[in-house]
Amino acid sequence: MTDPGHLFTRTLCDVVGREALTTRLSEEFVFADLGADAVRSLLTFDDLNELLATCSPEPPRLRLHRDGSPVPVDRYTETAASSRNARRVVRPEALYRELRAGASLVLDSLDRMHPPVGAAADDLMRLVRERAQANLYLIWGESRGFDTHWDDHDTVIVQVEGTKHWQVHGPGSRPYPMKNDVDHTHTPPRDADGELHLVWEGVLRPGQVVHVPRGWWHTVTGTGEVSMHLTFGFTRATGVEWAEALVRRLFEEEVFRRDLPRFAEPEVRRKHQGELAARVAELAEELDVDGFLTERDARFPRRTSFSLPWPVEEGAPPADARVEFVPILPPPLSREGERVAVTVGGRRYRFPAAVGPVLEAIAEHRTLTVAELAGHADVEVERAAQIVSVLSRHHLVLVR
Ligand SMILES: [Fe+2]
Repeated sequence: MTDPGHLFTRTLCDVVGREALTTRLSEEFVFADLGADAVRSLLTFDDLNELLATCSPEPPRLRLHRDGSPVPVDRYTETAASSRNARRVVRPEALYRELRAGASLVLDSLDRMHPPVGAAADDLMRLVRERAQANLYLIWGESRGFDTHWDDHDTVIVQVEGTKHWQVHGPGSRPYPMKNDVDHTHTPPRDADGELHLVWEGVLRPGQVVHVPRGWWHTVTGTGEVSMHLTFGFTRATGVEWAEALVRRLFEEEVFRRDLPRFAEPEVRRKHQGELAARVAELAEELDVDGFLTERDARFPRRTSFSLPWPVEEGAPPADARVEFVPILPPPLSREGERVAVTVGGRRYRFPAAVGPVLEAIAEHRTLTVAELAGHADVEVERAAQIVSVLSRHHLVLVR
């Protein structure tokens, strides 16, 4: 059985090849069969029942769709009477009735509710180096929850239970359509006979994975039996984001803070335009894409997770306590004189140089006991425990 925390960087990369995968990402459809075993620990019906009861997700985070339209929430939820703030609570019997009638259940951000899915989402983030979210889709029967459509982000679909029929039609009339776009007309690709073009058609079974690039049209239909799949969605940085970072730098430039010379002589207006264009070109040269992406990585958010009681108590954790690294992307460590510095979630941390080897070891292995960490970092166990205690207070490691 695959560890969900390595589902993409190891299992998927072993099947497809890491380079083949990253070069085809967002550009081509990808199919891979990881085997049912690889996804068994991700999500079971028992897990789903439990999290529906304990997290009691409300619409719109949980919603039903049928034949391309949302099912009115009054049909399957009621307002909780005992709560101080009115909450919508799913009525189990109403949910069963709607699912039996062919509705599909969508549950957003499952990665925040179910640790194995969270671990898989984190692993995908390490592969694509963008924020990813996992949504659940559950349907019985032959109906389709959604019409033929495209999504404004890249997706990796993982079939967990049952089967689902997919038709992937490919990019439409507007290549690389964006979430906040200026033109929303986008029609699907058709063959000469007017039929929807087909890039791939097939039935996904448990353990099979497809990548559908942003903007690619697809039609997904039930096969008559149950289907449960996870859609991992992520939005990659585009040239627009790079240009926005460039624009933010323009506030530092006096010539850009000045008013445009609307009422000046034509010659003055032309000169001003020339100055603006020249400075933009200079700054665009300075803000190279690699530097922009490094800055973006340094702002990569951390998961909200907690490590009580260690960050509050005075004592250090025991040698057999498990230490987990919090930052999703391994941050580069830099030396600043006698100190080591690391940027996580947009914040810069500086520690005594002795912390460096411990940080490096936990960033590489992600989870280790205090004793193992001491071994990798070549420091005394007591010293490693003290450093772990400090790192946990800054939410850089969790102690279990
Ligand atoms: Fe979709």
